[in-house]
Amino acid sequence: MDNPLDQLFELLRIPSISADPQHKDDIGRAADWLADKLAKAGFSSEVIDTKGHPLVFAERIVAAQAPTVLIYGHYDVQPAEPLALWSTPPFEPTIRDGKIYARGASDDKGQIFAHVAAVSQLKDALPVNVKFIIEGEEEVGSPSLVPFVEAHREKLKADVVLVSDSPMFAPGLPTLTYGLRGLAYMEVRLRGLGRDVHSGAYGGAVPNAAHAASWMIARLKDEMGWIRIPGFYDDVIPISPQEREMWAKLPFAESEYLAETGATAAPGEPGYGILERRWARPTLDVNGIGSGYQGEGSKTVIAAEAFFKFSMRLVPDQQPQKIAEITEKYLREILPPGYQMEIIRHHGGDPVVIPLETPVVKAAAEALKEAWGKETVFTREGGSIPIVSDFMRVLQAPVVLMGFGLESDNLHAPNEKFDVINFEKGIEASKNFLRKLPQYV
Ligand code: BES
Ligand code: ZN
Repeated sequence: MDNPLDQLFELLRIPSISADPQHKDDIGRAADWLADKLAKAGFSSEVIDTKGHPLVFAERIVAAQAPTVLIYGHYDVQPAEPLALWSTPPFEPTIRDGKIYARGASDDKGQIFAHVAAVSQLKDALPVNVKFIIEGEEEVGSPSLVPFVEAHREKLKADVVLVSDSPMFAPGLPTLTYGLRGLAYMEVRLRGLGRDVHSGAYGGAVPNAAHAASWMIARLKDEMGWIRIPGFYDDVIPISPQEREMWAKLPFAESEYLAETGATAAPGEPGYGILERRWARPTLDVNGIGSGYQGEGSKTVIAAEAFFKFSMRLVPDQQPQKIAEITEKYLREILPPGYQMEIIRHHGGDPVVIPLETPVVKAAAEALKEAWGKETVFTREGGSIPIVSDFMRVLQAPVVLMGFGLESDNLHAPNEKFDVINFEKGIEASKNFLRKLPQYV
């Protein structure tokens, strides 16, 4: 195989943005490219059409009685905007200071390609059966993969699912993630008038949708970070003392965290540390607001419409469906009179926690330790990979979250990057894991 880094660059040059219909051809190109690389590694590979973007499936069965790993990743990426904030163009990968800068470098092309490079290097020495399922819709909520998994249990059947789409706790610190938050995402659209009106001629006598949206947002969450939706916390499992203790030992400094994000304070639920709030407590964040005049200077107008979008990150045992229902009920209660409201439920995902005693988790911890020459740490994460809970439920297989990225990789933001060393160690860890697996399954 050619130099894995050159190959990764080829993949990074394809702008496979799943949210933007204009990039449909690029999505197809990225899927074909991966299927081709897996075929060259000795896999039987196929690109499977769905209602949305295609799935790449590939498998190499070395022996019927050998353990089987299903490796999951995604080849789609988030939009690159705002383009002006990138130091080098998002789809022209560039190495600076040992880091690969490109959209998708860490999330998730660099991470999934580490496994493709690993199986290519092992070639005929592949010690276990390996299947790949690589989707093109992760960043838009995996609408096609969920039904595919339900309908193809046998095809995807495996002893363990391996996922690399999460960060390490710190540079050089091998990390296994054993929990992810879930998600419920909602959008509210308000209309108070049939058309925009002059704020002097009509102001004081007509509804103002921008105000109504602000009042409603203010009633979702208080200044202390407590979510005011009745019943929201009902199913939250408290953090165990063992977890608190384990996390307290991780090398974490609040000041560095603030410096890295550019924040001057870390507001949030009292009584919980930053890691606890991100990993094991639910939250609610407004992700977008719009109404009224957005241009230069001033314009005296009352807008007819307003919208806001917000996401709730969930923890076990909160259920996205139930949370969306109680949220919708609450929104109807707090809607001021005089407005029409439309509520849109966007994608969701279940929170997960994977038991640390699982043998394959131990195999993965060993594999990482050998690659990095350091003891592996165990973390939960605040982000979501909705398909993970479906894999656990439908395939009844344990999931290993072996992330090679970093929290500071600028995921979904300008100047996304992936450290070259993390890519190289990722390939090594993947090979180690595959070699060790027969002793643990
Ligand atoms: N790689 C991330 C998930 C992630 C981020 C895990 C940070 C752990 C820490 C993934 O690509 C992602 O962005 N997921 C979305 C899911 C959503 C679009 C349904 C997320 O978490 O917002
Ligand atoms: Zn992402």
